[in-house]
Amino acid sequence: MKNVAIKSVGYFVPSKILKNSDLEKLVETTDDWIMTRTGIKERRIAGKGEKNSHLATKAALHALERAKISPHNVELIIVATISPDSNFPSVACLVQKAIGAKKAAAFDISAACSGFLFAMTTAKQFLQTGLYKNALVIASEKITSLIDWNDRSTCVLFGDGAGACVLTPVSGSRGIVSEYLHAQGEFGELMSVKTDDRDPCDQRSNQMRVPYVVMHGQELFKIAVNSMAEAVHVAVKKAKMNLSDIDCVVPHQANDRIISAVAKKLKIPKEKFFINIDRYGNMSAASIAVALCEALEQKRIKKGDNVALVTFGAGLVSAANIVKW
Ligand code: ACO
Repeated sequence: MKNVAIKSVGYFVPSKILKNSDLEKLVETTDDWIMTRTGIKERRIAGKGEKNSHLATKAALHALERAKISPHNVELIIVATISPDSNFPSVACLVQKAIGAKKAAAFDISAACSGFLFAMTTAKQFLQTGLYKNALVIASEKITSLIDWNDRSTCVLFGDGAGACVLTPVSGSRGIVSEYLHAQGEFGELMSVKTDDRDPCDQRSNQMRVPYVVMHGQELFKIAVNSMAEAVHVAVKKAKMNLSDIDCVVPHQANDRIISAVAKKLKIPKEKFFINIDRYGNMSAASIAVALCEALEQKRIKKGDNVALVTFGAGLVSAANIVKW
């Protein structure tokens, strides 16, 4: 069976920046608390009218341009998101329309912050079986639309953005060498979107709040560290490699302290981890996609490198891929 490789990557983040100092005016918090507890300095916020599908489209066009593939020739579009424009149509169909990829099959998947790796692994199967010759995988979030801006324990953590990649089959040993997808539904309550049962006959329905994120940070922290370390171990073993063979780790950017703890647990020097949480916060599925783009742009990943992509998210779900560049 042929290998599948990442042919190109692209990303887009909204221009509006929300700094910690801005949040100090919204809730009882400080720049110092946010920086020391999370490593976040600022995050991007989608502007009024700037929808998830707009971010996704821009990231997609960036990746397609770099792959030199016309939208007309795209065969499959998968968007990983938990913050779509609406329940339907899917963001993937909205992107398909926006870029004019008339021949493509298109659908969304929901795996929270692990969505990009779940989507990449899903696309890989279609390419390996030969059903499609290319796939556009996008991770896009307007997660700030789900945030309760009165809750200081969550509102300081998140930001909006989108990343994308084009996958194609390749000959030779490079490409996505191994994958590990895992779910622990029993921990779902640790991070969820609160919704209310709506009764059309109950007038109070009109006054209910929009859905918003609730989170048990401390419990999540511990599980995140163990799950991410375990995911890398399994994926490295499946790739028939050792941890010392990994040249660069691109982790989900939820908390700089989580990344430090994962590095320590794996005994991989933290210098090998690519980190951009200071500028973007946690962009859910898009975090790892944008980080991968920036790691490549900053030449932190070179031809022949073994790269570990690792993530965890609400569900709970965790995932890792080993990619030979
Ligand atoms: N500013 C100031 N103080 C705050 C803030 C804030 N923004 N938020 C909480 N505090 C206070 C708390 O009220 C608490 O005060 P108390 O001691 O008087 O009760 C104190 O700070 C400590 O709070 P903790 O929750 O214990 O702080 P912790 O060190 O655990 O950091 C954090 C909280 C940053 C949320 C951390 O637990 C974490 O990152 N957890 C993982 C979260 C995560 O990864 N979420 C996403 C997973 S899924 C996905 O990515 C979609």
